[in-house]
Amino acid sequence: MPVTNTHWRLNAATATVLLRATPHGPDLCYFGPALSNSTSIDAIEALVDDPILHASVDKAEAVTLCPQASLAYTGSPGLVGHRNGRQFAHRWTLAAAELIESDNRVHFTLTDDHTALALELHIALDPDTSIMSMHSSLTNTGDEDFTVDWLASASLPLPNHHTELMSLHGRWGGEFREYRRPIAPGLIDISNRHGRTSHEHSPWLVTGAAGFDEAQHDVLAVHLAWSGNTSLKVERLADSSGLVQVGVLPLPGEWRLAPGATVTTPKALVARADGINALSHAFHEHARRHVLPAWTRSARPIHANSWEAVYFDHRTDTLLELIDACATLGAERFVLDDGWFGRRRNDRAGLGDWYVDPEVYPDGLHPIVGRVRQQGMQFGLWFEPEMVNPDSALYETHPEWTLRLDGIETPLARQQWVLDLSLNAVQDYLYEHIVALVQEYAIDYIKWDMNRDLVLAGDGQCARAASQPEALYTLLSRIQEACPRLEIESCSSGGARIDYGVLAHTGRVWTSDNIDPIERARIQAGFLRFYPPEIMGAHVGHKAAHLTGRETSLHTRAIVALQGQYGFEIDARRLDSDERKALAHYTALYKANREWLSQSRYYRLNGVDESLIASAQVSLDQAQAWISIVAVSAHPHSRPGRLRLAGLHKTAHYRVTLASSNRDDVAQFSRRLPRWMRETPLISGDVLMQLGLPLPVLAPQKALLVSCHVEQDATPATP
Ligand code: GLA
Repeated sequence: MPVTNTHWRLNAATATVLLRATPHGPDLCYFGPALSNSTSIDAIEALVDDPILHASVDKAEAVTLCPQASLAYTGSPGLVGHRNGRQFAHRWTLAAAELIESDNRVHFTLTDDHTALALELHIALDPDTSIMSMHSSLTNTGDEDFTVDWLASASLPLPNHHTELMSLHGRWGGEFREYRRPIAPGLIDISNRHGRTSHEHSPWLVTGAAGFDEAQHDVLAVHLAWSGNTSLKVERLADSSGLVQVGVLPLPGEWRLAPGATVTTPKALVARADGINALSHAFHEHARRHVLPAWTRSARPIHANSWEAVYFDHRTDTLLELIDACATLGAERFVLDDGWFGRRRNDRAGLGDWYVDPEVYPDGLHPIVGRVRQQGMQFGLWFEPEMVNPDSALYETHPEWTLRLDGIETPLARQQWVLDLSLNAVQDYLYEHIVALVQEYAIDYIKWDMNRDLVLAGDGQCARAASQPEALYTLLSRIQEACPRLEIESCSSGGARIDYGVLAHTGRVWTSDNIDPIERARIQAGFLRFYPPEIMGAHVGHKAAHLTGRETSLHTRAIVALQGQYGFEIDARRLDSDERKALAHYTALYKANREWLSQSRYYRLNGVDESLIASAQVSLDQAQAWISIVAVSAHPHSRPGRLRLAGLHKTAHYRVTLASSNRDDVAQFSRRLPRWMRETPLISGDVLMQLGLPLPVLAPQKALLVSCHVEQDATPATP
C-alpha cells in the first residue's frame, strides 16, 4: 500500500507508540507511558527535529528503524550485508505502509534499488500488556546471492537519561545472575556464541537512569525470543543519541540469500515501565496471554523426578519402591529421567537410540508406567533428542547426521555431538521415535533436554547454527500436533534454554541443575524478573545438595520450591517421619494455593539488606499474598529490620500468618519473636507496605513463608 500517512499511533493500556514516515524509513518517535489522546502529532514533529551540528553532515536525517550508514549514521547499522564485497551500503526508500487496526500493528515495506533488497518491518503493540513486538524480514530481489552478516530484529532509541544497563549472565548451576554497568560512550555488545540460549548470556537488556530499582525510575526492557546465538547491543554516540539493538548472530555465510530468498528474524519484545517490578508484570502477563501453550493455564501438577534419586542406576524394583514413596508424598506426576534407553548405562553412550533398553527393562516401561498409573500419577519421560553419542547405534548408522566441519574435529562435550535438525531425515527420525513412545505409554509429559553448546556447527562445509532453533521449533510443533495432550518442558543442563521463542512450544522449564535452596533462591529471583512462576520447575532436593554439598533444612528447601511449580527430586524412600510430616505441610500448601499463584503478580522486595532474598506473590484481586524470605548469609546488623511489602491493597486488612511450619526452628535465634509471629494480627495493606513487617533474626539458610490474606468481613483489632 503506497505511503499516504505520515504518522501512525498505536495505543495500549499503559503505552503509546508513535511512528512517523521519513523518506528513508519509519522513525520511532516515541514508545513509553500512554500519551493523552489529545497529544498533537505536530507537537511531536516539532520535538523530533534536532539541531544541525557544526563539523557534521549538512542535513540531519532521522536514524529510522533500520539505521543506515549511508545516511552518515556512525552507530550500529540495522543491516550488514553484501554481494561478494559489493553493494554493502543500503539506502532505503519507504515504499509502503499499512496499519492493521485489528492487530494494533503497523507493517512497513522498504526497498533499496541500489542493492536490490526489500525489507519488511513489523511493529505491534499488545493492547493488554503494553509490550511492543518488533521483527523484520529481508528479501533478495536481485539476481545474485546476497550475504547477510547482521539483520536486527529491533533497533530502537535509547532514552538520553538511561545511563545504566542491567543484564543477566551465569554459568551451569548458577543461572540468571544480574549485572549492572554504566552506559558510557561506545558500544556494549553482549554476544552469545553458545548456539543455545545459554547459561552465560540470557537474551535480556534493561536500561534506566542510574540506580533504577524495583519500584521506581523509568526503565526499558528488550528481549529476543530466540534459542540460539544472539547479539544484544547498547550504544551511546557522541551526539548523545543512543540505540538498543538486538538480533540473531549468524555465523559467517550462514544467511546467504539466493535470488528471491527471504530471511525473517525472531521477535524482539520491548517494554517500558516504572521500576523493574512493573516490567515483570508486563512480561509475565504477556507470556500467559500470548506466548505459553494453553495447557500451562491448568493446575500445575507436582512432579517427582528420578534423577537425583537414582541417576543411571535404573532397576525396576528400586523404581517401583521410589514410585510408591513419591505417591505417598503427594506427587502427581512421576518423571523417569535419563538412563532408560539404548546403551545408556552412563553418560557416555546411547544418546540417539530412542528405544527402551531391553536389558534393563525386559517388559518395556510397562511395569513402571503401570505402577505410576496405579498410584494415580501421570507419567513423564526424559529425552535429549538433538544429541548423539559416538557410542550409539544411531551414530554407527548415520555419522553424516551430526553438525560438523570436514577436516576439523568437533570437540565432544559430555561425550556427545549435535544432530543437524534442519535435515528432514533427522526431523523424521526423531518425530517418529518420540511420537511412537508417547503413544505406546500414553506419556503425559516430556522433559526435553539439550546438554551442550554448538561448536563447529556446520553441514560439513557451511555454517548451520541459526537453522537449529528454527528446526527445533518445527519439530516441537509437529510433535505437539500429533500429541495434543502432551506437555513439554525445556531443560538444557538446567536453565540454558529459556526464552520466549522456545516457550511458545514448552510451558515448563528446569531453571537450574542446582537445587541447593540458597543458590536456587538467587537463581529464581533472576528468572522471575521476566518469566512467570507457574512455569518454573522447582524441586525439593536432598538435605545435602548434590551440586554444592551444602546442608539445609527441609523447610528452607520447600519454601524455595514453593515459588514455582513445586516438586521433588529426592530419594523419597529414605525420608524420616519428621521430614515426611514437614513435607506434607508444604505439599498441602501448594495444592491449596496453586490456582491463584498461577496468575499472581510477582514483586521483588529489596530494601532490607543483602543477607535476604525476599519476594511477594500477590493474587490478582489482591486478597492473598505469599511473602517468601530466604536468609542467604548472616545479617550485617543484629536484626534484619522491617520488610516493606508491595502490591497489597492499601485499605484492605490482611490477616498475617506464618505459613511455613518452622516457627520453632527460627525462634531460637531471637529472645522473643515479633508480635505478628506470636499472634495473627489484622494489618492494613498500607501499613504493611509503608511501615513494613518486623522480621525475626534469620540465621543463615533459614527461610520464612508468610501469608497475608483478606478475610471476608474482618475488622481490624487495632485502628
Ligand atoms: C541434565 C539435566 C538434569 C538431568 C540430566 C540427565 O543435566 O539438566 O536435570 O536430566 O541432564 O542426564
